[in-house]
Amino acid sequence: MKGKKMLHFLALAVLVHVCTASSDGRYGYSLTGQPEKTAKGWRLSLSRHGPASRYGNDLFYIEMHVEYQTEDRLRFKIFDPNNIRFEVPLKIESPSVTAADTNYDIEFVNDESTRFKIIRKATGTVLWETSLANLVFSDQYLQIATNVPSTSVYGFGEHQHPSFKHNMNDVTYGMYSRDQSPKMYANLYGVHPFYMCIESDSNAHGVLFLNSNAQDVTLSPEPSLTFRTIGGILDFYVFLGPTPENVIQQYTEAIGRPHLPPYWSLGYQLSRWGYPSIDVVKQTVKRMEQYGIPHDVQYADIDYMDNNLDFTYDKDNYAGLPEYIQELKKDGLHYIIILDPFLSKDQSRGSYQPYELGQQLGLWVNNSDGVTAAVGKALPPGESVYPDYLNPQTADWWTYMCAEFHNVLPYDGIWIDMNEPSNFLNGQYPACAHNNLNYPPYIPRISDSSLFHSTLCPDSSTYLGRHYDTHSLFGWAEAPPTFRAVQQATGKRPFVLSRSTFVGNGKYAAHWLGDNHALWEDMHLSIIGILEFNLFGIPQVGADICGFHFDTDFELCLRWTQLGAFYPLARNHNALGQKEQDPGAFGIEFATIARTALQIRYSLLPYLYTLFFEAHAFGNTVARGLMHEFTDDPETHGIDTAFLWGSALMIAPVLQEGARSVDVYFPDATWFDYYTGDKVPASSHNKYISVHAPLEKIPLFIRGGYILPTQTPATRTAKSRLNPFGLIVALNEQGEASGSLFWDDGESVDTVTSGNYFLAKYTYREGHLKTRIVNNNYRGVDSLVYDTVQILGVTSRPKAVLLNGKAIRNDIHYQENGKLTIHISAPLAEDLDITIQ
Ligand code: NOJ
Repeated sequence: MKGKKMLHFLALAVLVHVCTASSDGRYGYSLTGQPEKTAKGWRLSLSRHGPASRYGNDLFYIEMHVEYQTEDRLRFKIFDPNNIRFEVPLKIESPSVTAADTNYDIEFVNDESTRFKIIRKATGTVLWETSLANLVFSDQYLQIATNVPSTSVYGFGEHQHPSFKHNMNDVTYGMYSRDQSPKMYANLYGVHPFYMCIESDSNAHGVLFLNSNAQDVTLSPEPSLTFRTIGGILDFYVFLGPTPENVIQQYTEAIGRPHLPPYWSLGYQLSRWGYPSIDVVKQTVKRMEQYGIPHDVQYADIDYMDNNLDFTYDKDNYAGLPEYIQELKKDGLHYIIILDPFLSKDQSRGSYQPYELGQQLGLWVNNSDGVTAAVGKALPPGESVYPDYLNPQTADWWTYMCAEFHNVLPYDGIWIDMNEPSNFLNGQYPACAHNNLNYPPYIPRISDSSLFHSTLCPDSSTYLGRHYDTHSLFGWAEAPPTFRAVQQATGKRPFVLSRSTFVGNGKYAAHWLGDNHALWEDMHLSIIGILEFNLFGIPQVGADICGFHFDTDFELCLRWTQLGAFYPLARNHNALGQKEQDPGAFGIEFATIARTALQIRYSLLPYLYTLFFEAHAFGNTVARGLMHEFTDDPETHGIDTAFLWGSALMIAPVLQEGARSVDVYFPDATWFDYYTGDKVPASSHNKYISVHAPLEKIPLFIRGGYILPTQTPATRTAKSRLNPFGLIVALNEQGEASGSLFWDDGESVDTVTSGNYFLAKYTYREGHLKTRIVNNNYRGVDSLVYDTVQILGVTSRPKAVLLNGKAIRNDIHYQENGKLTIHISAPLAEDLDITIQ
């Protein structure tokens, strides 16, 4: 340490040295004066040395604040103390904790490189190490780099890229919301500057860069990350984990936990762009019914609108739509309508009330003058204006319009599309002016190297400031008023599906991965997207099953339906002009196989719903990579061809044309074949094993040690929710298992906070299955029963089975593979006690 001048802000916040280093020959920033202790941490004044960056307007003085927010969360922000710069308006609570209680230390080395480090106390691992000598803080170019402790880095969105675990070979990702069909490495619809890193000893941490300006990040092999943004401030949150699940729990605690979705929205959803008339919708729904295929949600894409105008419907081609929606509801189906964020300004004067009202109130994104509306061209006829959802009055107007429209079309949920925002022009009329907002000195690595391509000019003005800063918050701001509108209109738990998302949107919206292609490769890539959005705190996510662009084919669509049956959001959607691809469109063989896959989904919905409850209450992921559960097995770090629901169900889909087997990696645990209950031999652990996957089957495995609640499936969740429950008890090598069931009415608002739910915990040990009812405040459970208990991994034929102390005789079936099936009739609301002797 000789010669190094270090400031350690260790547990007791003792400053070891106070530095007086010379600034000669330095670049970047270094400390001036002494660090000051603040109520929450430290304040450091930094001043610039050496030459200015080539981007101009470099700041001489900046400040860095370090806040010890919780024992596992640290915030540091670097900003201009003399001028207000844009900050993302996401409310993150800012508690404080004493340094002694944190699981991290920070260290400031005030030598020539002026390094700032964040260290995991338990292991000494340096999670973040940045040299302030390389920091650039100019008005329109901010750059900070850090070393990361390993190459197992995940996250950053929204992008399509070939593997869940990032390639660190100097790959750069741009982030700027854009109407862009998934395309390798391109900046897509949403922005999530969040990553998770698995350290070499299997601990995990996460980092959020809370910034909404156009930005990019380069992942380099050192391994290191370089963040570059063109505005705002450098605002970082570090989450200490130490497990991947802990990281996401801590991340969502900060940014907002995901909403609890309505139960019906976990059912199968069917959509397409290009139902030419209501009759075709009716035929499609009927076909689903005839084949007995589970189906809970029917969508209306823009086809239902009159001339692509929001808040209208086509009274010719969709005559009778309101009545039809009522009919669907009676039949247990739910109807979701699309809304676009552009309002046509060119309808005959006074005739288009949504526009007239908004225009009167001045609710649009404006030109740089801050007064006249920015006018673009999008789907509706004529030219369009864009609601400025960041303006609370706009949000109220939107909520009002959506809620009013419910009196016309009694929808159950709203799909918000094109909210990047998309524009068919490059910038609004007449064109983007030549200034440093529209043409900044540095353009991050984004498509077309333009900030206004397919959107509005960055110098447009919004309620919270320049579109330059708020562009990527457009969809983010649209989701909450839409959520409120659906709740207000339906009186029930809302469902909103949004294309563009930003940090914290999981609280209000589900997401689909956009306009993918009917290609085998896209099926694989969808798994990566789904795992990433689970990291981003938006667990209700899926890709368009069977593919959006291009015509799909029988085998691709079938395999995709099998995989899609295990997306947290299972929606088949298709583009205008493509051939039909609903599961009833390919004939009986397809329909039968699709039905089987979806029936498995429906039978596992109680388990899936419980996972969503855990996501909502504790911030867990729903779909998760194998690395989340088997973090100390490095092989799992790179797996993205299989994934898990929670801890207990592994889904290993067929992702290749013609394949009738899948190579499945079995991490070291007990695994059972879902279909047969056969135990995967221990000799297959830590290896890839070829698993038979004929066309009619998607390989599924249950992990020993877990209990999964199930329910007899039906074609609607409205019906399946009344059916008998079952338990799959998968024993581990100790003969133990545990699990839980969350249940409520599936549609009321705030059941968790109001306590109106049922929660049971199950344990199995020493031949004894027991429930413990933790919360019993939902009386809907009183008419529900258990009818089957399957125990997997039973070591010998039982001599007797007792239910609540009484022997069961006839209803027991034991198979030589160790699967014991017990048929019972026992009330859900009472403790269950089964003894195997
Ligand atoms: C773009 C969306 O991504 C797509 O899903 C939708 O079908 C079209 N817009 C038409 O509304």
